[in-house]
Amino acid sequence: METIRLGKSQMEAPHLALGCMRMDGLSTKAAAGIISQAMDAGINFFDHADIYGGGASEEIFAEAVKESGAKREEMTLQTKCGIRDGYFDFSKEHILNSVEGSLQRLNTDYIDILLLHRPDTLMEPEEVADAFTRLKESGKVRHFGVSNHNPMQVELLKKYVDQELIVNQLQFGIMHTVMLDAGLNVNMQHEPAVNRDDSVLEYSRLNEMTIQAWSPFQHEKTKEVFVGNDKFPELNAKLSELAETYGVNESAIATAWILRHPAKMQAVVGTMNTERLKAIAEASGVALSREEWYAVYRAAGNVLP
Ligand SMILES: NC(=O)c1ccc[n+]([C@@H]2O[C@H](COP(=O)([O-])OP(=O)(O)OC[C@H]3O[C@@H](n4cnc5c(N)ncnc54)[C@H](OP(=O)(O)O)[C@@H]3O)[C@@H](O)[C@H]2O)c1
Repeated sequence: METIRLGKSQMEAPHLALGCMRMDGLSTKAAAGIISQAMDAGINFFDHADIYGGGASEEIFAEAVKESGAKREEMTLQTKCGIRDGYFDFSKEHILNSVEGSLQRLNTDYIDILLLHRPDTLMEPEEVADAFTRLKESGKVRHFGVSNHNPMQVELLKKYVDQELIVNQLQFGIMHTVMLDAGLNVNMQHEPAVNRDDSVLEYSRLNEMTIQAWSPFQHEKTKEVFVGNDKFPELNAKLSELAETYGVNESAIATAWILRHPAKMQAVVGTMNTERLKAIAEASGVALSREEWYAVYRAAGNVLP
């Protein structure tokens, strides 16, 4: 598994992270199986949030780590805070409480990376700054980042927060390309030209923030998995053709498409199926050509100007 440098930090992270959002649906034994498979494939990076399974995903993960024999110091644990029941909360009190809860549930002394999950428009950035400093100085959190933030929201945080924001986790995949569509359709009248994210892709590259692509196999509008889905015949034909060329499966090609972007993103995959994870991990060794990359983009229904 190849690695990337996360933001301006010295942290090396694998091309793929395992998203643990659906881990609450697993037995401890099954969760231990997927963790072991991930570690065997070089995916030692696990993405959590305080709210996944209402906290149960973090708990089952910790139980499963014990059962799998995996070593905490060989893993990177990332979690998120800031989403509550019906509202967002970046208050100092909530951030600190949320981290305490995650530390307990994950059965660990420290979190490697803490992300603010979704922008809270009622945020007081001074409170976030206070919370981050407390967490950093106490050793409870080593690195910080955000999720679903646009560039100006990141800038607002950066004005107050002392720590480097190394990651922005955003939805991205072949059928959710909002962050690059406008950049391919500059100064045009049609729908894809609408800049919906304040150029977060270019901003992240300019400022060396790593984009983590969440839900990489999801179709934007229907929320269905597009791989192997009859509703998207042209895309699946292209994925199958490339799968044949590279000797991997279609999900690996869909992942390789994300990794091919020079922004050097990390893909956060959510499968809880060991065989599927093993196959997807092969994406790390696939380097799609420029022509292949654009052919996949077009096969997903996008028209180049
Ligand atoms: N920051 C945010 O706001 C945010 C939001 C959502 C998610 N996330 C993170 O992103 C991670 C991934 O999200 P996700 O689970 O929605 O993304 P995903 O990796 O796109 O989808 C995985 C789901 O698709 C299913 N699937 C069916 N066929 C598949 C195929 N051929 N290839 C791959 N998967 C297939 C998997 O089922 P099986 O388990 O049966 O394989 C699993 O339920 C989450 O775990 C979480 O960590 C972050």
